[in-house]
Amino acid sequence: MTTTINDINQAGNHRLVALDELKPGVPYRVLHEGTGILLCLVEGTVHAVHDTCTHEDISLSLGVLCEHRLRCPLHGSQFDIRTGKVLDEPAEADLPVFDVSIVDGWVCI
Ligand code: FES
Repeated sequence: MTTTINDINQAGNHRLVALDELKPGVPYRVLHEGTGILLCLVEGTVHAVHDTCTHEDISLSLGVLCEHRLRCPLHGSQFDIRTGKVLDEPAEADLPVFDVSIVDGWVCI
């Protein structure tokens, strides 16, 4: 799922999506200033990584999330969504990660 909601709250944070839109273990893609960000709710914590695989240009929102391990749908590279680290090839570069916070029920960046 993709959303382009991008309001700014009073603290100056960009609202990405309402927290209750996220389902545990289901990757959720948002666009923030033209960048695809993948939000993953795992064990009560929201993690955010760049949505594009570092091996080839494909959205990881189509991948499978198993605990903290995200599997690319194209060639099967795996990434740790907490750190962006590559866990399994063919990708060699880590995913950028983003700091997010929860403010008034919104996931913000
Ligand atoms: S495009 Fe993701 S592993 Fe190849």
